[in-house]
Amino acid sequence: MLNGASRKFSTSVRCLKSVKLKNVKGASSHNWLSRQLTDPYVEKAKMMNYRCRSAFKLIEIDDRFEILRPGIVVVDCGAAPGSWTQVAAKRVNADGSDPRAPQGLVLSIDKQQIFPVEGATVLGNTDFTNPQSQSKIVELLAGKKPDSVVSDMAPNATGVKDLDNENMIHLCYTVLRFAVQMSEVGASLLVKLWQCGEARQLENDISKFYKSVKPVKPSSSRSDSAEMFLLGRDFKGLMK
Ligand SMILES: C[S@@+](CC[C@H](N)C(=O)[O-])C[C@H]1O[C@@H](n2cnc3c(N)ncnc32)[C@H](O)[C@@H]1O
Repeated sequence: MLNGASRKFSTSVRCLKSVKLKNVKGASSHNWLSRQLTDPYVEKAKMMNYRCRSAFKLIEIDDRFEILRPGIVVVDCGAAPGSWTQVAAKRVNADGSDPRAPQGLVLSIDKQQIFPVEGATVLGNTDFTNPQSQSKIVELLAGKKPDSVVSDMAPNATGVKDLDNENMIHLCYTVLRFAVQMSEVGASLLVKLWQCGEARQLENDISKFYKSVKPVKPSSSRSDSAEMFLLGRDFKGLMK
């Protein structure tokens, strides 16, 4: 059922679709806008009150691999505007909306501001790669260990492909290091990356700490995008 605001939005999207886009400057803005207007996930996200279409990537991955369940602790890296946090908070029952299920915890972090998500703890304007930010996360977890670390982080594109890939891989290894040091035995790790030469090495490195690792490309991830995810399951734990 659509509420008034969603209905208004859908109507305005439909109206926009019928407008010729000849006033938009530059081919890439034109392409982006027309793609947004014809993307079923964009409209579906609005109808379901998700903050962006990325929600469906996590939904698809979780429906397939069951990494989220009521009662678990999730750290969501690169969480703004917050659609993964919305999905995770619901699925782990972080808002306690299901009184019969255990209540989970979602801790979300981003360099940008994150508007509050019911049930989740959000840490906006915080760079995950900064060790002090990670100490803050540990402090907020108050002795609890993550059962799942998910990262949809992406660096700002510089336009130089090799540099962008390098920055992305750097983010992935920062997440892997954090997850390995902090996670509960049996935990999962989901990291976004772009298909590049270093992807295989990252996959190998994840497999050293997780019993299985799998490349995943959800159907809601645009087929013309180099984006992919690596899913590590069943964290082995660190040998003391
Ligand atoms: C694709 S968006 C995430 C979308 C989010 N999963 C959602 O569903 O709403 C990527 C995010 O990564 C964040 N990011 C990139 N580098 C970061 C860093 N070093 N620390 C924290 N967040 C970072 C960006 O600010 C951006 O908001």
